[in-house]
Amino acid sequence: MEKKYWEKIAPNYETEIFDVLHNDKSGKIVKAIHQFANKKKSVIDIGCAVGKWIPVLAPIFKTVRAIDISAKNLAIAEKKYMKYDNISYECVDMSAAKLKPQKYDSAICINAILTESLKKRDLFFKHMSSFIKKGGDLVLVVPSLESKLFSHIIANKWNVDDAKKDIAPTGKKAISQIRFIKDGVTDIDDIPTKHFLKEELELLLTLAGFKVEKIEKIKYKWSTEFHKPPSWLKNPQPWDWMVKAKKK
Ligand SMILES: C[S@@+](CC[C@H](N)C(=O)[O-])C[C@H]1O[C@@H](n2cnc3c(N)ncnc32)[C@H](O)[C@@H]1O
Repeated sequence: MEKKYWEKIAPNYETEIFDVLHNDKSGKIVKAIHQFANKKKSVIDIGCAVGKWIPVLAPIFKTVRAIDISAKNLAIAEKKYMKYDNISYECVDMSAAKLKPQKYDSAICINAILTESLKKRDLFFKHMSSFIKKGGDLVLVVPSLESKLFSHIIANKWNVDDAKKDIAPTGKKAISQIRFIKDGVTDIDDIPTKHFLKEELELLLTLAGFKVEKIEKIKYKWSTEFHKPPSWLKNPQPWDWMVKAKKK
């Protein structure tokens, strides 16, 4: 999942990419942000894409820094949200070896740490931590590996969406899939995407200098996972992980 991928998808972002804000019917993420929002403070939206979270952030913070690896996504966001005068945009690769130092009172990072590369993820976590002031808040949302495996198990057991007709990969593709899954990397729409375990997140964030306050599920409808979910399939629902953490 490189810059090239995100630039290519930008013109069709709305139809291609899962909208966390729209699908979080519980409103838990917005509520978590409101708990530390402050008209005198700054927030950085890391991996802001086309700016879905800007209407949530702009009215409740003094300033919003919106960063993304995709210049095209940023251009779309900037054009769409011209009515806000407290947003600044910057094209930043959170997996770059070095970034210019900057500090904010708080940060959100919603489904942006997705790269299959461990090295790039390590840099992403390191820079994310460096961007937040001591005592500052973070709301992080990432795909759940538990949820992804749960969906696979359900699909295979009950042949959801004709899962049994899926052709198992062979050769190099099979080998790379086995290597990937051991690291929590599994495909979303044929793109290798990092998924996280709850315990893994807690450890990674603690080592990156955060105090983890809460990790909870952001639940979605089964129709976000399957074209034809069985009518009896209700709970548990598929989910992402949301972490609320404070910078130590
Ligand atoms: C799935 S989208 C999520 C967008 C947005 N946070 C939301 O919830 O609507 C992931 C975004 O992360 C950005 N991204 C991925 N890797 C990045 C990196 N290394 N540095 C900065 N942004 C990155 C992508 O360009 C993309 O816009």
